[in-house]
Amino acid sequence: MTLSAERIVLGVSGGIAAYKAPDLVRRLREAGAEVRVVLTQGARAFVGPLTFQAVSHQPVHTDLLDPAAEAGMGHLELARWADRVVIAPATADCLARLAAGLADDLLTTLCLATEAPITVCPAMNHVMWRAAATQDNLATLVQRGIDVIGPEEGSLAEGESGPGRLTEPAEVVRRLIAAPAAPRTAGHAPKSGPLAGRHVLITAGPTREAIDAVRFIANRSSGRMGFALAAAAQASGARVTLIAGPSTEPTPTNVERIDVETALEMHAATLARASASDLFIAAAAVADYRVADPVTHKLKNSREQQTLALVANPDILRDVAALPNGPFTLGFAAETEALEEHARHKLTAKGLDMIAANRVGDGMGFEVADNTLHVLWPDGAVTLGPATKGQIAHDLLTIAGEQLDGAG
Ligand code: CTP
Repeated sequence: MTLSAERIVLGVSGGIAAYKAPDLVRRLREAGAEVRVVLTQGARAFVGPLTFQAVSHQPVHTDLLDPAAEAGMGHLELARWADRVVIAPATADCLARLAAGLADDLLTTLCLATEAPITVCPAMNHVMWRAAATQDNLATLVQRGIDVIGPEEGSLAEGESGPGRLTEPAEVVRRLIAAPAAPRTAGHAPKSGPLAGRHVLITAGPTREAIDAVRFIANRSSGRMGFALAAAAQASGARVTLIAGPSTEPTPTNVERIDVETALEMHAATLARASASDLFIAAAAVADYRVADPVTHKLKNSREQQTLALVANPDILRDVAALPNGPFTLGFAAETEALEEHARHKLTAKGLDMIAANRVGDGMGFEVADNTLHVLWPDGAVTLGPATKGQIAHDLLTIAGEQLDGAG
């Protein structure tokens, strides 16, 4: 498949990765697309319009109120001309401006004025990428139906390492070809089912806590239970947001997925959305501790004994349960012994509405497809399984849905 005859507006915003954008133009054209480039003022500080003109074989658009450009192809014509708008690189500022709906330059105006699908390829410093403001802006854009490609992990321009690299142009083109331009559908609105009209927020998978540039502390969680719950909630009619730690599980259809890495990122992404949700399911295996002082370079092997200082991570589930007017909270408890006793203690101690306890160790729980869950709530209990995680997820949501309806 190719991008044959597809008309693409490529927006370039002002980050160091802008130097890769001419290569992206070349590859888009090789794949058959017709490309018109829009540069922000910031982008022009990195790469000049003449370069883009040479590779796109088209005039380059830079200003909103340039009489000459408006006489050629004005901003509204450009917005209508596009089959798809791709922004690469999309800086933190660019994402913020899109999320806020600003229209004070050509690129933001065009994005507001177009009905074409929009794909953003973020690239920025890793701290800026992880900032709660950036993640919130991204979630807003995803909710509005904007597609996101990247960023990738790796070394960044400043000599640091982390998520923030622009996805390589060849990969961007491959992903665009794999996801044909389709109209934007914001919100994946629920249709029918026991959870119709409900917004379900789920955490899933492990978290990773950096030790140095290449090493981290993680756990054996596959994310399978949380992903199965997301699919089951979606099938029950809910609008589902899945906040996922690193997991190879595929994203369930019509589920909004937000990828995070650390417990702090998962905490920020969850708390930003919890009040707006009806049911919160904490299926993630969140690291209870993080390294107090991770280093940004790779630690050398000194052959000497090492001690890692750890500090406690916030408890996401506890913080959601403590929200005034927060959602119905369903937590998980992975226990090796005294399962019901420990689970009931967590139910009370964390102020939850429901808890699902499973036994771990001896090959049970993590990384296995079959499961048994002991579900407890203040005045009831039931055992589910053994069954597949898909079946368990469905049954658990049915019980949670009943209690949620009972709670009003
Ligand atoms: N959880 C969370 N944030 C954390 C730690 C845990 O949201 N920082 C959630 C998990 O997703 C799970 C529940 O809390 O739903 C129980 O986690 P668990 O690790 O079993 O409980 P702890 O409170 O950490 O107790 P312990 O490890 O001592 O059993």
